[in-house]
Amino acid sequence: MIRPAELIQRKRDGAELSAEELSELVLSYTRGDVPDYQMSAFLMAVYFRGLSHAETFALTDAMIASGETIDFGAALGRKVVDKHSTGGVGDKTSLAVGPIVAACGAPFGKMSGRGLGHTGGTLDKLESIPGFRVELTVDELVAQVREVGIAIVGQTATLVPADKLLYALRDVTATVDEVSLIAASIMAKKIAGGPDAIVLDVKVGDGAFMRTLDVARELAETMLELGRRAGRETVCLLTDMDQPLGWAVGNALEVREALDTVCGKGPPDFTELVLSACAHLLALSDLGVDEEEGRRRAEQAVTDGSAAGVWRRWIAAQGGDPDEDALPVAPIVHEVVAASSGYVTRLGATAVGMAALHLGAGRASKEDEIDHAVGVVLDRKRGDAVDEGDVLAELHARDEASAAAAVDEVLAAYTIGEEAPPARPIVLDVIA
Ligand code: URA
Repeated sequence: MIRPAELIQRKRDGAELSAEELSELVLSYTRGDVPDYQMSAFLMAVYFRGLSHAETFALTDAMIASGETIDFGAALGRKVVDKHSTGGVGDKTSLAVGPIVAACGAPFGKMSGRGLGHTGGTLDKLESIPGFRVELTVDELVAQVREVGIAIVGQTATLVPADKLLYALRDVTATVDEVSLIAASIMAKKIAGGPDAIVLDVKVGDGAFMRTLDVARELAETMLELGRRAGRETVCLLTDMDQPLGWAVGNALEVREALDTVCGKGPPDFTELVLSACAHLLALSDLGVDEEEGRRRAEQAVTDGSAAGVWRRWIAAQGGDPDEDALPVAPIVHEVVAASSGYVTRLGATAVGMAALHLGAGRASKEDEIDHAVGVVLDRKRGDAVDEGDVLAELHARDEASAAAAVDEVLAAYTIGEEAPPARPIVLDVIA
């Protein structure tokens, strides 16, 4: 029998815990035998002390062992691909990547999470579509990937239940941005969730949990190692999150932007990231293509409308209304205007994410309800020229008071300077 207070103390003091101790702690917490307050203290100790490689592997294994696992490849007789992001502001990449790779013939099956801190979650975005069901059984999930080519669902209660509980706890205890915890959380879900090949999008910069390229590389290497140990082919893209991705931040707004991108009308940075992720996923799939051919096929699926066709079939298969007009719309749209002329030299992703959260697009505590209609649409991004009085962004709000409160937050996200900043690519590095 472990004594949680003793494990907390040893981790706090920098000791290495054994695989058995970590396993029992995680499994006891999942059963409800260890209370939230002790697990919170343990997470905070890990936040400050980190986990060794051996501890990270043990934590990942324990989380996988907390529930069932699926073998997608065996169930479908095909190689199933998946992509996962470490979380960012305006990150709706899976929503666009999934239908595009499915339209190219690669089965895409994904379990997604909810928003963490100032970053939005794929499930919250999908739930802005009226009727959309994120909770499918494992059989429904496999059947839908077989029939429609794509399914994106919430973690079922039976898969990695430990992560579901820990993720929600970390979100509200300031213990999200720790390399080992992120690596174990993501890879436990990926390994248990059954894809054969995974493209990981590690976000780097102001709005990401990884602030610098060095830490992002460390996270990427840890996740690649976890993937290797579990026999999954894994590629990590390190991508820019110094400014929000695309123009839209907020759930229904992002769903609309993902659909626009699937139809070839998306923002340039987001479109580039989506096509790049699709190229890597298709190269890892069983279609026998390289990245260059993968990219060509992804572009083709966008231009010939097949990706948009898959989008409609996918949304309908999960009970959602595929009509864009069915998405909720905020009653108030309030413009934020530039107080000076020049170039946008900085557009802080965290500040925009926090403004969206305060408008109601995210959760401040575990129990909070999300307002799917609200958020921020950026008219100007880094490098754009602006004249005094130009619209920088639009706030989509529930009422005038919340819009007024968000104006200063969004204004503070922008720095207007005299010279255009150097261009920064969206994909900063690829690690395989
Ligand atoms: N995404 C996850 O799935 N887990 C984390 O811990 C962070 C981002």
